[in-house]
Amino acid sequence: MARRPAAPVSCFEEFCPRFVFLGGDTLSIPMYQMGIMSYQDRLHELAEKERLAEAGGGAERVAKQHASGKLTARERVELLLDPGSFVELDKLVTHRCTDFEMEKQKFLGDGVVTGYGTIGGRKICVFSQDFTVFGGSLSGAHASKICKVMDFALKTGTPVIGLNDSGGARIQEGVESLGGYAEIFWRNVQASGVVPQISVVLGPCAGGAVYSPAITDFIFMVENTSYMFVTGPEVIKTVTHEDVTKEALGGAETHFEKSGVAHFVRPDERACLQSVRKLMSYLPSNNLDEAPASAARDAVDRPCLKIAEILPESPNQPYDMRELIADVVDEGDFLEVHQGYAPNIVVGFARLGGKSVGIVGNQPAHLAGCLDIAASLKGARFVRFCDAFNIPVVTFVDVPGFLPGTSQEYGGIIKHGAKLLYAYAEATVPKLTVITRKAYGGAYDVMSSKHIRADFNFAFPTAEIAVMGPDGAINILYRKEIAAAEKSGKLAEERKRLSDHYRATFANPYRAAELGYVDEVIAPEETRRLLISGLKALEGKRERGPSRKHGNIPL
Ligand code: HXC
Repeated sequence: MARRPAAPVSCFEEFCPRFVFLGGDTLSIPMYQMGIMSYQDRLHELAEKERLAEAGGGAERVAKQHASGKLTARERVELLLDPGSFVELDKLVTHRCTDFEMEKQKFLGDGVVTGYGTIGGRKICVFSQDFTVFGGSLSGAHASKICKVMDFALKTGTPVIGLNDSGGARIQEGVESLGGYAEIFWRNVQASGVVPQISVVLGPCAGGAVYSPAITDFIFMVENTSYMFVTGPEVIKTVTHEDVTKEALGGAETHFEKSGVAHFVRPDERACLQSVRKLMSYLPSNNLDEAPASAARDAVDRPCLKIAEILPESPNQPYDMRELIADVVDEGDFLEVHQGYAPNIVVGFARLGGKSVGIVGNQPAHLAGCLDIAASLKGARFVRFCDAFNIPVVTFVDVPGFLPGTSQEYGGIIKHGAKLLYAYAEATVPKLTVITRKAYGGAYDVMSSKHIRADFNFAFPTAEIAVMGPDGAINILYRKEIAAAEKSGKLAEERKRLSDHYRATFANPYRAAELGYVDEVIAPEETRRLLISGLKALEGKRERGPSRKHGNIPL
């Protein structure tokens, strides 16, 4: 690695000629310690140190950062937090490394800006890695700064937002850096389910460093400038002989659509940081808090008039569940999470009567809304987040079942589908369910059914609740009749007759309503009013599971 030309400590000497420096050492002995420095000199000394800390890696590296389409660590913090709210901690920390002549290369702050501020007036802890200082790489001191702010967040119940832009472990520090990472990982786990943790990846994030964002609740990425991978393209080329670009391997699009690692992708940093602010508006500060309510501008009893147009006449025709959700929630405002991944299920945040809710909906416009491995993982993680943070879950069901096929079975749909079932069953937040159309087979049970303790289960008159759809069912129930009809050339009529009979018997919500599995069959226009009324009725819901160390979700 090339040696760093100018050490900022010597810059300091240049600006503050009154300070006496000891040889080439990093220690400076200012004259006030000899009893001759005025109060003004002391203030000047502080201002100078702050100026140096704020300069990061220097003008040249800052220009390079801007030229690569990225903002600096401090510019990002300014955009993320309410104006003027940021209070910085550990601004003057430096690394302690003496290998590779590192004692001659010190930058105040050591490549990460940490502190607290507010978003929408609520306290937030933040760390922002500074790529202009040693490529934002993580030293022991850099890690300690992050750990300090995480500890503060945990003891004060404050969300943590990490702005990541780092070349990974500080190579010159070896195991001290690895230890620093592990200290962060450990805190990520301690904070999980206690305070919301958000990772914003705004540059490289490689090697084991990816595991801190991976443990946090939401990951944001920016198109073209952020990437995440466990091993980079060169290592992959050596080991597996695959040729892959950095972007294709771990760029924003890859993690948004293929791996599902990124929950949100935005075209640039400004839009990204705005979205973080918006996400925060739906979340409570910690697991003992409620999400902030906003004054609902939309009438609580507004009829949902669009649903009738959205739901197709034919049960086999697709529609966009997001349109239905938009017709129900306050001002049609739905912040979709994981939009690019597993589009056969839709998850995200909205408000009902001003209160934050998590929404889950099967999406008939993709794979007919079937549950597959990816959809199960996506739904399960979202439901568990909502449950951990007291956010009621509203589920819109239109699911023909689990996706059949060898790729699903070999991929472990049994264990992955079980995650969604587990997540819904263990969730004790208010759970409200609306069956809009199909609720077939095991997927009926999984999707927040009454049996796994949903609090209110509604169904539209268009709902079909059965073990399977008519086509599959008549093939099994009436095998002989169908074979006979085929021989007599009346297959189509016979299938229709049998299918109509099955539909009339099962493909409706009334058998479930008779059994109390559906609390009420509702006119779609009433959806919003009834959900808001249900949420109000469930305020103060308390439910405790059996005492245990923890459950064993099928991972
Ligand atoms: C020390 C580093 C550094 C690192 C970059 N720099 N990464 N210094 N430790 N890990 C320094 C460079 O020397 C350079 O210093 C400055 O940061 C900018 O780096 P460039 O290479 O000039 O920038 P760029 O061309 O944009 O490339 C960025 C990069 C590349 C792709 C991140 O620097 C790189 O590949 N770095 C190494 C990445 C890596 O392998 N890290 C370890 C991963 S494993 P100057 O003085 O010139 O400005 C890991 C394990 C974690 O992190 C384990 C946790 C359990």
